[in-house]
Amino acid sequence: MSTKKILLTGGAGYIASHTAVEFIQQGYEVVLIDDFSKSDRTLLNGLEKITNTKIRFFEGDCRDEKFLDELFDREKITSVIHFAAYKSVNESVREPLLYYDNNLGSITTLLKSMKKFDVHEFIFSSSCTVYGQPDVIQVDESAPFKKAESPYGATKQMCERVLEDVTLANKNLKVISLRYFNPVGAHPSALIGEVPLGVPNNLVPYVTQTAIGLRQKLTAFGSDYNTPDGSCIRDFIHVVDLAQAHVMAAEKISQMPTNNEAFNLGTGDGVTVLELVRKFIEITGVKLNFEVAPRREGDIEKVYANPAKAKKLLGWQTKLSLEESLRDAWRWEQHLAANKK
Ligand code: WQD
Repeated sequence: MSTKKILLTGGAGYIASHTAVEFIQQGYEVVLIDDFSKSDRTLLNGLEKITNTKIRFFEGDCRDEKFLDELFDREKITSVIHFAAYKSVNESVREPLLYYDNNLGSITTLLKSMKKFDVHEFIFSSSCTVYGQPDVIQVDESAPFKKAESPYGATKQMCERVLEDVTLANKNLKVISLRYFNPVGAHPSALIGEVPLGVPNNLVPYVTQTAIGLRQKLTAFGSDYNTPDGSCIRDFIHVVDLAQAHVMAAEKISQMPTNNEAFNLGTGDGVTVLELVRKFIEITGVKLNFEVAPRREGDIEKVYANPAKAKKLLGWQTKLSLEESLRDAWRWEQHLAANKK
């Protein structure tokens, strides 16, 4: 049993719920908070079934300082993993102020409250989107931040800048930013997974919703990129691999070279959109209705991780394949359909 007590913000969300499973199964005490603005209790219920534990959950907004102060005062948290953020690229273009207010307001309020209660371990859910279109396609953590492609991406860059400044001002605060590539898949139990709100923006939930009949057709955006088959290249990482990286980060956070480190979390392999679609069809046997269409505004052409730093300093690397990601994503979609209210 670890002596650390971990707060997961955005705890009812996709990545946080999978991360909570890994912490609980490693013997950690966890507390989850969520304001349910982009989620509901579905994943909390699944999480309790997988771990056979009653989850300590409190509904609240990370911009509510009173809520956070009372939580830190009561729960004696030792470490925070900050997942709570809005994450839709499209929505951020339509509603930039919503994104700046929520994503920046949450992290600054959280850090203020942590300071008051001397909580000094902070793991931040960042994204490869901070790089924009990198010059070196297999990108490492030393790559410069290009101009963000969306307000969503800009908030991730700004949050990392906030963390850079607060860790310079306060050597006691230890920060790790985890830059996710493209999280996909679901827990093998099919009791938790991705729950897109409305029409999915992301590729894999759109694929599985088309396969199950919720969507008429999948549109593959772009066939004229400078890639083997003309479609974009991404690094699709199984959400369970991603979740386990957070446990390693929490375990190693006080042994880092500096008090502010960032890590790429990806497989290190680039896969094209069409390769993924064809792999899905091959492993599921589903006749997926899809068409190739012009490029989607704001998409970068190709990026995938150089995950060497996480392997070296966290002792972490991915174990699960794209095939396992797609199988688990499909199993989760079928579970959702079978349990539709
Ligand atoms: C991947 C590729 C699309 C949908 C963004 C954020 C990142 C993270 C994940 C939050 C692109 C193509 C997609 C579809 C398609 N955010 N695609 N048809 O844009 O790489 O990353 O979401 O977790 O921070 O930047 O992910 O899944 O939207 O797109 O052809 O219906 O799939 O054009 O090439 P993206 P994505």
